[in-house]
Amino acid sequence: MKNKKVAWITGGGTGIGSELTKRLVAKGWDVIISGRRIKKLKEVQNFKKSNIHVYSLDITSEKECNLVFNKIKSLFKKIDLIVLNAASYNPGHLNFEKTDSIKNVINTNLMGQVNCLKYALSQMKIQGFGQIVFISSPAGFRGLPNSGIYGVTKSALTFLAESLYLELRSTNIFVQVVHPGFVKTPMTDKNEFFMPFLMSPEEAARRIFNGIFSKKFEISFPKRLIIPMKFLKILPNSLYFFLMKQFLKNIKKQYE
Ligand SMILES: NC(=O)c1ccc[n+]([C@@H]2O[C@H](COP(=O)([O-])OP(=O)(O)OC[C@H]3O[C@@H](n4cnc5c(N)ncnc54)[C@H](OP(=O)(O)O)[C@@H]3O)[C@@H](O)[C@H]2O)c1
Repeated sequence: MKNKKVAWITGGGTGIGSELTKRLVAKGWDVIISGRRIKKLKEVQNFKKSNIHVYSLDITSEKECNLVFNKIKSLFKKIDLIVLNAASYNPGHLNFEKTDSIKNVINTNLMGQVNCLKYALSQMKIQGFGQIVFISSPAGFRGLPNSGIYGVTKSALTFLAESLYLELRSTNIFVQVVHPGFVKTPMTDKNEFFMPFLMSPEEAARRIFNGIFSKKFEISFPKRLIIPMKFLKILPNSLYFFLMKQFLKNIKKQYE
């Protein structure tokens, strides 16, 4: 019982988070899942009630994060892994008239992770070990049209993961970043465009689960999507913009 591993997965009530929860529980872990919709969390809890612990939490509230983390601490006394998975997605053209929508995405995808880290990382420093997994996205590799402010927050999250990895290099706290391709979840169900190499949340969770135990900093998949996107990442601006303009012209023609 004492050696049982403890993970906290934010946004564990749906999609990738719920499937990753099931994988960790099947391996004998205790998993805390949090999110705003308790009903969704309880559906996941039915997978194994004794090992899945649910907490209602809006990660944009530092106070709520503190309360939930105190409950985790009093129940388990430690945390082995935190998966910063919860996110908000609001695609479309950048629209600076709608600042509420922009603030919501930034507050969730960026400040939400900071709020959780404030408590989880301080506990990991006290106990002297831990693992932090940021769920970012290839949407943050380069500037993209129609990805709203979402890509901006994911770019920042990858930056944050890299910085923290380096700052914690001489500790026993390991940082990782995940860049999943398109995964069929409630988040992508709102996309109206074609999503190449779309995979199931079960398959994405399997790859993330294996990555967590691989001890590699970056977990990116599928290669068929990641390799071309990484190639675009290293191109000079002039070539990147030229290729993107051609691509967007072709897409427009297809829909005319
Ligand atoms: N699906 C993809 O193709 C894809 C690709 C690349 C990266 N990702 C990333 O993968 C992660 C998981 O996404 P998903 O695809 O599995 O989508 P999802 O099913 O919509 O999961 C997002 C989760 O975040 C929670 N959440 C949102 N706002 C929250 C808030 N303010 N406080 C607490 N929880 C909040 C939601 O629960 P509540 O609404 O109940 O709070 C939901 O369970 C995200 O970080 C996403 O950016 C997904």
